Amino acid sequence: MSILDHTNTQVGKQIDLPVSFPKDFLWGAATASYQVEGAANEDGRGPSIWDHFAATPGKTYQGHTGEVAADHYHRYLDDIALMKALGLGAYRFSISWSRVLPQGTGAVNAAGLDFYDRLVDGLLAQGIIPMATLYHWDLPLALSEKGGWVNRETAYAFADYAELMARRLGDRVTWWQTHNEPWCIAFLGYGIGAHAPGLADMSLVPTVGHHVLLAHGLALPRLRAHTLPGTQLGITLNFTPAYAADDQLATCAAVERATRGNRWFADPLFKGSYPDGLFADFGTAPPPIHDGDMELISGHIDFLGVNNYSRTLYQAVGDGNQSERVDPVPGSLYTEMHWEVYPQGLKDLLLWLYEEYTPPALIVTENGAAFADTWDGSSERVHDPLRTAYLHDYIQAMGEAIAQGAPVKGYFVWSLMDNFEWAEGYSKRFGLIYIDYASQRRIIKDSGRWYADFMRRQHELHNGA
Ligand code: FCB
Repeated sequence: MSILDHTNTQVGKQIDLPVSFPKDFLWGAATASYQVEGAANEDGRGPSIWDHFAATPGKTYQGHTGEVAADHYHRYLDDIALMKALGLGAYRFSISWSRVLPQGTGAVNAAGLDFYDRLVDGLLAQGIIPMATLYHWDLPLALSEKGGWVNRETAYAFADYAELMARRLGDRVTWWQTHNEPWCIAFLGYGIGAHAPGLADMSLVPTVGHHVLLAHGLALPRLRAHTLPGTQLGITLNFTPAYAADDQLATCAAVERATRGNRWFADPLFKGSYPDGLFADFGTAPPPIHDGDMELISGHIDFLGVNNYSRTLYQAVGDGNQSERVDPVPGSLYTEMHWEVYPQGLKDLLLWLYEEYTPPALIVTENGAAFADTWDGSSERVHDPLRTAYLHDYIQAMGEAIAQGAPVKGYFVWSLMDNFEWAEGYSKRFGLIYIDYASQRRIIKDSGRWYADFMRRQHELHNGA
């Protein structure tokens, strides 16, 4: 069975995956604060750049905002009950910085801290491991007004925020990530303006990326100091592996360039330097690097979080002196995001990361697909065979990478539930759980049922039925 066989609606009925997943493998699902919480103006939360960006005409699909989103702030107990029903071993969520520090620094919002306390306790009460991400793109607006990630001071503010959260949750949360996808923060947010804060100035991009990494490096010892021994600290990067359709020089150069993009953050984290040629690719100057920055940035992490959805493919054009992306790839299935479904990419990526960087552990912190789900308005079923097939095939590919030695310790579906997909608003549905936004009713999709069944069988394989 393969994803290419996407007319096969029986796909969810079978489980033929290898049984090579380790016993204590983390099976989970992920969300992010601004995408699910809502309650944007409640209980003392300060505004973030995403509130401001989404409220700016023309920035998001039909002007959608995260003001209500999936109302997770109020419904988190229902959502934890659904996680329990699915049998999730772990839940990756992010903390809204401006909910706990409305101005980004200074006065703490006790009600905001209390929310994350309740969320963590609720998860632990159901035996679900909480994995906290400190920054999933919702920078406090007050910090953005002082330059945001262009301003080096933001990195220091982040480290203080990290310590605040570790002091509050570090006795219970043993999995932490500093950032989610620095590439998107820098490139989409400051380089092309597709995301908040909506700046389109490539000259800012290296500096933003560097300050995001610096924030990570500054936060590590602060997190370490206020969490339990054995706590796992990491960062999540997004990777889109690049492939060549031919062996022309131009194609090889295009693949190399795309691979430098994949190394942008991983090289500093694991090798303490930026890839040669990276900033020339951007057509910019390198970032301002202070003495000691690279040592901080390459401080020990316990795992690398890997987000992967798709790949890129390049081919030579004309007389072979130029190369372009093959898009669409003939015969490939594409998701609603127009991302090519390519499970082999995850396998290749995990093995490449392992060989190139020898991280102590890899966690797939996001993988999933948007498809056009429909609900009949009354039943408890949403049929999404393409998503089931996607998850099946990507999990299978991950299993093959593990069998070949990649130290993968967990996998998180993006996403637990449908949510605010950034500039795409609510038009793209990634959830294992369908959200009817008018009523906030939740319906577990067939893919959620399949994943639940898969996790239950994994559990039984290791622990007996
Ligand atoms: C990733 C983001 C996540 C979600 C998925 C589809 O880049 O980290 O919040 O939007 O894409």
